Amino acid sequence: MSVIFSGIQPSGELTLGNYLGALRNFLDYQDTDECYYCIVNQHAITVPQDPKELFHNTRSLAAIYLAAGLNPDKVTLFVQSEVPQHVQLGWIMQSISYVGELERMTQYKDKAQKQGESIPTALLTYPPLMAADILLYGTNYVPVGDDQKQHMELTRDLAERFNRRFGETFVVPEIKVSEGGARIMSLQEPTKKMSKSDDNQNATIRLLDTPDQIVKKLKRAQTDSDNAVRFDKENKPGISNLMGIYRAITKDSYEAIEEMYAGKGYGAFKSDIADLVVSTLEPLQQRYNELINSPELDKILDEGAVKAQAKASVMYDKVIHAMGLCRK
Ligand code: AMP
Ligand code: TRP
Repeated sequence: MSVIFSGIQPSGELTLGNYLGALRNFLDYQDTDECYYCIVNQHAITVPQDPKELFHNTRSLAAIYLAAGLNPDKVTLFVQSEVPQHVQLGWIMQSISYVGELERMTQYKDKAQKQGESIPTALLTYPPLMAADILLYGTNYVPVGDDQKQHMELTRDLAERFNRRFGETFVVPEIKVSEGGARIMSLQEPTKKMSKSDDNQNATIRLLDTPDQIVKKLKRAQTDSDNAVRFDKENKPGISNLMGIYRAITKDSYEAIEEMYAGKGYGAFKSDIADLVVSTLEPLQQRYNELINSPELDKILDEGAVKAQAKASVMYDKVIHAMGLCRK
C-alpha cells in the first residue's frame, strides 16, 4: 500500500482541466492506497483573495471532491489551514530552499508578472509549502497535471537535501501524471493551459456549467479552417485540444477518433463532444447540489482534519528532533 497526496487550490470554480488532469485520477487510488486529499487554501492566499469568496470556494471545492466520487470512508479529505503542521514544516523547508531555485519556477514567474510591483513574498515561497504538504505524510505518489512537474522536482530535491543534512527522514515522492488529460488547453487560446483564473468565460468549461453553457462554449471553441478532425498539436492546436478532451473521457486513441470522424467535419465532432462532456458532468453536478449545504460536508472535513493531524504530527516531530529544533 502506497501513500498518495494531492491538493487543489480553492481559488475559483474548478475547470474541466482540473477534473481530467487531477481530480478524476484521485479516484484510482482510493480502493488500494492510503490517500490524503487536501484543499490548499494557504496556497490560494499567495495571490490576493476576497475573504467571502475564499470561504465559499473552500466548501465548494470539498463538495466537488466528494461529488467526483471520493469516498470519505476511504480517503482523508481536509482543509490545509486546519492542520497547522503544513505551515510549520513549510517554514522549515524555506530554511533549506535557495532563493535562486525558487525564482526559476515558471509558475512563480507567470503569476508574479500579473501582480505588478506588489508581488507577495509567499508567491515565491509557495513551493517549499507544497513540499511540506507532501513530505508530512511520507507520500510515495502525487497525482497532478503536468504543469506541476517543476514543483515536484523541487520537492524531491528538498527531501533529498534534508535527508543528506539531517539524516534519513523523508520519503522522496514521485509524480503521477495522468495519461491524456495531463494538460487541457484554453478553448479560446489553445496554446495556453485552461485555467481557473482565466477572465474569458468562453475559454474554460467549469464543472458546474449548465448543459447549455457547455454546448455554447464547445461550439465557439477556436479551431482552424480546414475542417478535418486530425490530431496535430503544432499546426492544429484547437481541434487537437478538443480531441485530447474526447480521448481523456472515452480513452479512445487519436487514430480511432480520426477514423470515426473522417469526412464528417468539426460540426459533428463538436456536437458529440458536447454531449460527452455534459453527460460526464451531470452526475457530479447532481451530487454537488445535494452536498453543498449539508451538515455531512462539515462532519467529513472535521474528521479529515483530525486524521490528517494525527499522521502529520508524527513526521513533524521527527523533523524537529532531527534538526535540534526542540528542548526535550
Ligand atoms: P490548480 O488549478 O492550479 O489548483 O491545479 C489543481 C490541479 O489541476 C493540479 O494537479 C494541476 O496540475 C491540475 N490542472 C490545472 N489546470 C489543468 C489543465 N488545464 N489541464 C490539466 N490539469 C490541470
Ligand atoms: N501547486 C499545486 C497547483 O497549483 C497545488 C498544490 C499545493 C499541490 N500543494 C500540493 C498539489 C501538494 C499536489 C500536492 O495545482
